[in-house]
Amino acid sequence: ALISLRQLLDHAAENSYGMPAFNVNNMEQIHAIMQAADACNSPVILQGSAGARSYAGEPFLRHLVLAAVEMYPHIPVVMHQDHGSEPAVCFRSIQSGFSSVMMDGSLMADAKTPSSYEYNVETTRKVVELAHACGVSVEGELGCLGSLETGMMGEEDGHGAEGVLDHSMLLTDPEEAADFVRKTGVDALAIAIGTSHGAYKFTKKPTGNVLRIDRVKEIHARIPTVHLVMHGSSSVPEDWLEIINNYGGDMGQTYGVPVSEIVEGIKHGVRKVNIDTDLRMASTGAIRKHLHDNKANFDPRKFLKEATGAMKGICQDRFEAFGCAGMA
Ligand code: G3H
Ligand code: 13P
Ligand code: NA
Ligand code: ZN
Repeated sequence: ALISLRQLLDHAAENSYGMPAFNVNNMEQIHAIMQAADACNSPVILQGSAGARSYAGEPFLRHLVLAAVEMYPHIPVVMHQDHGSEPAVCFRSIQSGFSSVMMDGSLMADAKTPSSYEYNVETTRKVVELAHACGVSVEGELGCLGSLETGMMGEEDGHGAEGVLDHSMLLTDPEEAADFVRKTGVDALAIAIGTSHGAYKFTKKPTGNVLRIDRVKEIHARIPTVHLVMHGSSSVPEDWLEIINNYGGDMGQTYGVPVSEIVEGIKHGVRKVNIDTDLRMASTGAIRKHLHDNKANFDPRKFLKEATGAMKGICQDRFEAFGCAGMA
């Protein structure tokens, strides 16, 4: 059944687990997530970005999610709109049946320039007012995601120089978080604690802690009833990186967020963990390998099935590690 983000994350808080929120663009990703959830009895958050909506087309994306709900009636599903760049985007998603929306007011509508605090409060508050009237949950964001080393916002290829951020924006301020929640009424809050979007998060293999879990604790202590969200939380699996590069790919050396640090965050109030890159890498690696090993194949179902299986493996690992397996 389709449920709201608030319903799911309240249950997660009561039972001390976290939820991976996987980005979806096509049928294979949704199949993979649902098969994994079915295998370990986990609830599910499926989220669509603006990029996903323009790739699939909003009706296709919506009907794919609704097909998953129909096929797995025993699994609670949240249909979440990721990174709304302005209130109108969120209103459109509410109208089309999403049970949760993110108003990302931490950036201006161009999604590249940091916004003022007042702009963030005002745009987010507007979305909450309308969304709550419709029974839809709202995620806000305070602080900007970027590398704590370089201040760079995440980039797809690891080479972009776009958006170098002021260091003070890279960590969410706990006092400001309390004020933001009071003024907006958000159900969930994405915080900046050292993660960044995309595959190129850390240049060296993490040995100690790479995230500011101390900051998670401080924020959670001030806003205990608001569910904390970690964006940019792919772990960038080393085995899939190697497969991609061994079968004709050329990704640079890079490291993601260790699952153990996410689990630490979940112990201190993180309830939603956004993952996109990991499924992209598993699917690309599986397809590259299949086509290399089966040069005569021209039936896309054969390699797409490999991609689905590879993504399912990652999903099941995360459901188990985050404690949501068995919670559906
Ligand atoms: O937050 C960004 C997600 O990884 C979605 O990426 O805009 O390429 O669909 P996308
Ligand atoms: P990753 O790029 O780490 O997978 O993060 C995805 C995300 O935060 C989507 O909102
Ligand atoms: Na989101
Ligand atoms: Zn994100």
